[in-house]
Amino acid sequence: MNAIDELFEAASAARRNAYAPYSRFAVGAAIRSASGAIYRGANVENASYPVGACAETGAIAAMIVAGERDIAEILIVGDGDALATPCGACRQRIIEFAGKDAKVLVAGPDGVRASFSIGALLPEAFGPSIRASIDRQ
Ligand code: THU
Repeated sequence: MNAIDELFEAASAARRNAYAPYSRFAVGAAIRSASGAIYRGANVENASYPVGACAETGAIAAMIVAGERDIAEILIVGDGDALATPCGACRQRIIEFAGKDAKVLVAGPDGVRASFSIGALLPEAFGPSIRASIDRQ
């Protein structure tokens, strides 16, 4: 299986376990880290709607718990006709752990539909390097 197919299968398997009874929009995410390992997440909704978490959030948490800090690429799989691109908050979560050229692959149930860099999805980001430069002032 090629690297993208592997990421797609991992995200799709996570998506099958999504807890999305309110939106009925199941999402899965899979990160390939700098080491080549894969970390997965699914959205976890809540009766108190704003408390719900996106799939990307879970995948990032799994990577951090495993002791890694670098996202090489992340694939997100949703459903429907529209592209399930990461929400603004998740773009910010991704840039915390990714260089601006890291790939964000957006998939539907049949496979990858589009590919972006995180820098294109979140230009002029307030990321860790800006935060560090403020601290040096
Ligand atoms: N959602 C994600 O998990 N990731 C995305 O990139 C977009 C949206 C979830 C949040 C909510 O549980 C559901 O999709 C509908 O918005």
